[in-house]
Amino acid sequence: MDGMTFVLFGATGDLAKRKIFPALYNLYHDQKMPQSISIIGLGRREMSDSKFQNHVEQSIKTFSRRVVDNRDKMDAFLGAFRYQTLDAANVDDYGKLLNLVQQRESELNIPENRMFYLSVGPSFFETIALNIKESGLGSTKGWKRLIIEKPFGRDLESARELNANLSKAFEEDEIYRIDHYLGKSMIQNLGDLQFLNPVIQTLLNNQHIANVQITASETVGVEERAGYYDQSGAIRDMVQNHMLQILMMTAMHMPKKISPKEIRNEKKKVIESVRRIKKEDVILNVVRGQYRSGEIVGQPAVSYRNEPGIEASSQNDTFVAARLWIDNPFWQGVPFYIRTGKRMAEKSTRIVIEFKNAGHKGSAKKVASNLLIIEIGPNENVSLQLNSRNPRNGKVEPVKIGFSTEQKEVPEAYERLIFDAIRGDSTFFAHWKEVELSWEWVQPILEAFKGNLLPLHLYPAGSNGPSAAHRLLEEDGFKWWLDD
Ligand code: BG6
Repeated sequence: MDGMTFVLFGATGDLAKRKIFPALYNLYHDQKMPQSISIIGLGRREMSDSKFQNHVEQSIKTFSRRVVDNRDKMDAFLGAFRYQTLDAANVDDYGKLLNLVQQRESELNIPENRMFYLSVGPSFFETIALNIKESGLGSTKGWKRLIIEKPFGRDLESARELNANLSKAFEEDEIYRIDHYLGKSMIQNLGDLQFLNPVIQTLLNNQHIANVQITASETVGVEERAGYYDQSGAIRDMVQNHMLQILMMTAMHMPKKISPKEIRNEKKKVIESVRRIKKEDVILNVVRGQYRSGEIVGQPAVSYRNEPGIEASSQNDTFVAARLWIDNPFWQGVPFYIRTGKRMAEKSTRIVIEFKNAGHKGSAKKVASNLLIIEIGPNENVSLQLNSRNPRNGKVEPVKIGFSTEQKEVPEAYERLIFDAIRGDSTFFAHWKEVELSWEWVQPILEAFKGNLLPLHLYPAGSNGPSAAHRLLEEDGFKWWLDD
C-alpha cells in the first residue's frame, strides 16, 4: 500500500475516541496500514502533540478490539500522530495545515495521497470541503478522498444542496459516505450468501418468498443526544440510511461482474423501484411510535418525554415501522416490512425472509413457515428454519440449521470501512444516488409526520413497539417473527 496522510477533523470528539482511533490501531496491528502514514488530528482546542498521542493511546486501551501488548509497537504507531488547532471557518488555519501536511510528507517521504475524514457535525461539511479546495490541500499529485458521516442532509432538498456544495471540491468517486451498517460483516456477507449458494439464489424472488422483515431494535433510549435526536427521530436517524441500505443489500441481485460500480448500480436499481408513497397514504403504510415509561431488563425506564432535554410535548418518533413494495420482476407483490425503535425489548438487527407455505396442501395440520434468518448484530448468525419429524414423538416440528461467528475475531465496521477507503474500494459506501433516492422515498413521510397526518402511538419501554406495527402485517396475513 502506498504511503498516505490521514487528516482527521473532529479528532477530540467522541466518534474519534470510540471508533476511529481503535480502528486505526487494529488495522496497524493487523498490518493493514501503509508502511508510511502521517495522521493529523484537528480540533478547536489547544493541545500538544504528546498530549494528543496520550489521548489516542487512552482511547485505544479503552475501546480497541486488539490488546495493546507491545510498547515499542505502540510507540511507533503513536509516532505517526500530530495535532493542530483548527477553526473550521478560518482560512488561515488551512494554510497552516497544508504546511504541516507537506512537512510530514517530506519527512516521511510519502506521496501526496490525502484522506480527509470529517468526524464533525454536518453543519461543517461544506465549509471544510470548500476550504480544503481553496487552501490547496486538495491539489495533490496523488489521490484525495473525503470521508463523511451521516446525517447527509435533513431532507431531500438539504441533501441535494449539500451534495452540490461538496461536488465543488470533490468528485463523486472521491467521496466516501459512511453508513456504518454497510461495514457490518453480515451485511457484507449478504451478497456472498446469495451469489455463492444456488439454493438461496434460486429462491429469492416472488415465486417463493412470502415477505421480508427487517428489524433494528435497540434497548437504549435517547441517551445524551436529545438535541440531535429530537430533531431527527427514527425516520432520519435509522430509516433513511441504515434500514434502506439493508433493504437494498437484501433485495439486490448480484451483478454478473462484481465491482463497486456494478454493486452500487444494482442497489440503486432496488431503491429506484421502491414504490413511492403519497403523503396522504403514509398513514396506510407507516406506523410511528414513541416510547412511554416501562421496564427494560428489570430496570424502570422513563418515557421519552421525561428524558433530559426533551420537551414534554415532543411528537418525535422513536419508532417507525413501514411496508414497502419493490416494483421489479423479482419482488413484485412481496411486501418488505421494516421497523426500528429505541427502548425496545432487545438489541437486535436481523433480516427474516419468510418462504411461501406451499408444502402442506391437503394436510389438515398447518406447518410452520420456512424462514431464512440473518442476524446482523449484536450476534452474527444465519439459520434456516425447516420442518422435520421428531423421531421421538413422531410430531412434525420446526428445526433450525445454522452457523454463527465468534464476535471477538470479527473486525469492527469502522475498521473494515477505513481499510476499504484507504484502498480506494467504495463498494460498501453509500453512493449519492442511493442517498438521494432514499431521501425521495422518505420525504412524504417526513411531511406526513410534520403535518401530524398519522397518529403517534405510545409503546411501553421494553416492548416490541406499538400494536399498530403488528396490525400492519396482520392486514396481509403475516406476523413479525421472533418477537417472543
Ligand atoms: C446510529 C444512530 O447511526 O446507529 C444511533 O445514530 C443508533 O441512534 C446506532 O443507536 C445503532 O448502531 P448499532 O451498530 O449499535 O446497531
